[in-house]
Amino acid sequence: MAAKWLKNAVFYEIYPQSFLDTNGDGIGDFEGIIEKLDYIKGLGCNALWINPCFDSPFKDAGYDVRDYKKVAPRYGTNEDLYRLFEEAHKLGIHVLLDLVPGHTSEEHEWFRMSQKAEPNEYSDRYIWTSFCFEGCPGLPYIGGESERSATYILNFFKCQPALNYGFLKPDKPWMTGIHDPAAVATREAIKDVMRFWLDRGCDGFRVDMASSLVKFDDEKKSGTSAIWLNVREMLEKDYPEAAMVSEWGDPKLALRAGYDADFFLNVPGNGYSSLLRDYGMDPIGPDNSYFKKDSDHDISRFLGEYLDWYEDTKDIGYISMITCNHDTVRATLHLSPDELKIAYAFLFTMPGVPFLYYGDEIGMRYQFLPTKEGGYYRTGSRTPMQWSSGKNLGFSNASPEQLYLPVDPAEDAPTVEDQETDPDSLLNTIRRILMLRHKEEDLQADGSFEVLHAVKGEPFVYRRGKITIAVNPGLVEAEVPVSTEGKSLLFSIGTCRFEKNTFLIGPQSFAAIR
Ligand code: NOJ
Ligand code: CA
Repeated sequence: MAAKWLKNAVFYEIYPQSFLDTNGDGIGDFEGIIEKLDYIKGLGCNALWINPCFDSPFKDAGYDVRDYKKVAPRYGTNEDLYRLFEEAHKLGIHVLLDLVPGHTSEEHEWFRMSQKAEPNEYSDRYIWTSFCFEGCPGLPYIGGESERSATYILNFFKCQPALNYGFLKPDKPWMTGIHDPAAVATREAIKDVMRFWLDRGCDGFRVDMASSLVKFDDEKKSGTSAIWLNVREMLEKDYPEAAMVSEWGDPKLALRAGYDADFFLNVPGNGYSSLLRDYGMDPIGPDNSYFKKDSDHDISRFLGEYLDWYEDTKDIGYISMITCNHDTVRATLHLSPDELKIAYAFLFTMPGVPFLYYGDEIGMRYQFLPTKEGGYYRTGSRTPMQWSSGKNLGFSNASPEQLYLPVDPAEDAPTVEDQETDPDSLLNTIRRILMLRHKEEDLQADGSFEVLHAVKGEPFVYRRGKITIAVNPGLVEAEVPVSTEGKSLLFSIGTCRFEKNTFLIGPQSFAAIR
């Protein structure tokens, strides 16, 4: 594990399209992020993850990179991004870019070259079969689009051909091994991209589909892991403070493959989803989320997965808890601001490195919208940030039809401006929680974590170092079922009180005692 700054990091995820537009073209830009660095710092976030901001045809919101070393002109210039790094660093904010190593855009120069019939340096940069009618069993492939008589494998959408990192057990003539020159060349090319940005002030990467490098015969991920360990060697040597956060969803593997942190992602039915989005595949169906005031309040589904991961990985890296991300339906679809206050207090007092998705600090609502840039249902979580009551809720001076996506049309759409003045707003509650986290080392990434009481329908109680935390998402005051003798209240949301030797936690309340 390398990056020491992660110990007290709290990330803010920015979808650059929708954060702040400063030149009136209807789309967010680097200058907008720079202008809001003080706001981000004031929230209590000291690190950023910016979704892909590179040159792209934007068929998948920028996850289809056309040039890894050039930013998309719609956000500004490379120099603007270097300035963003600099200004962020002045405030003690670290910046992660989004690295997309598994695929490029079909418009990337490497891919154009690899499509040529005449063999060249890039012929094996992607996974190609040996004949125009030959596919690869079990993997999606495309034929008929290239002068080369072969088909190529996709990594995600049709616009995203898979880069070739080789196969563990190559058994077809067109398969290369993971140590063959062509596969090594791909790996080195991605390392070169990483060096490019790290040399210019970037502090590391959130890595897209980190587990996807070596295809189907890599069930235990030993091939993919070997590649990341090789990348880690480079980082250890030349960039010891660079941080790597994986979109892998399996910390036991990811943290052993050299990652500093791995996300606990929302997968319908999994432990994380049981907290904030317990409605299976139907977003407007009934919801039994742990943090809903009238659910059955069963934390065991979350703990069942989390504790196993946590115990196995606590000495080697971090699990990242998220409020949401650009792929996930905003939790406001089912949870009210009062429910979210308790949920966030929980997420931000857990071990590891937490992530706050832009707009979640004010409870921005999920919007039902037609798809944009390959977003589909995800589009509704990617709408413009709501700053004020001004034009386009302060996002942009453009005319509303020109906006990247429409702003929330509701009369009572939450805004930063409104919530600033209300001490009990979600925004100010998050600030208080994050201030507490920064003040108390016990609550940060490395502080110990122990479950003290986790019975369905009763307050959930856990310990972080010397701090005991009680959570009551329900509607009835309850006795905290652990000894609180000699302790006093450190922090609370809602109503909490000591009565003789017992500690009572009110409805929809959260308490930290020590
Ligand atoms: C995961 C990203 O988070 C998502 O937005 C993207 O569409 C896919 N990977 C493909 O890159
Ligand atoms: Ca703009």
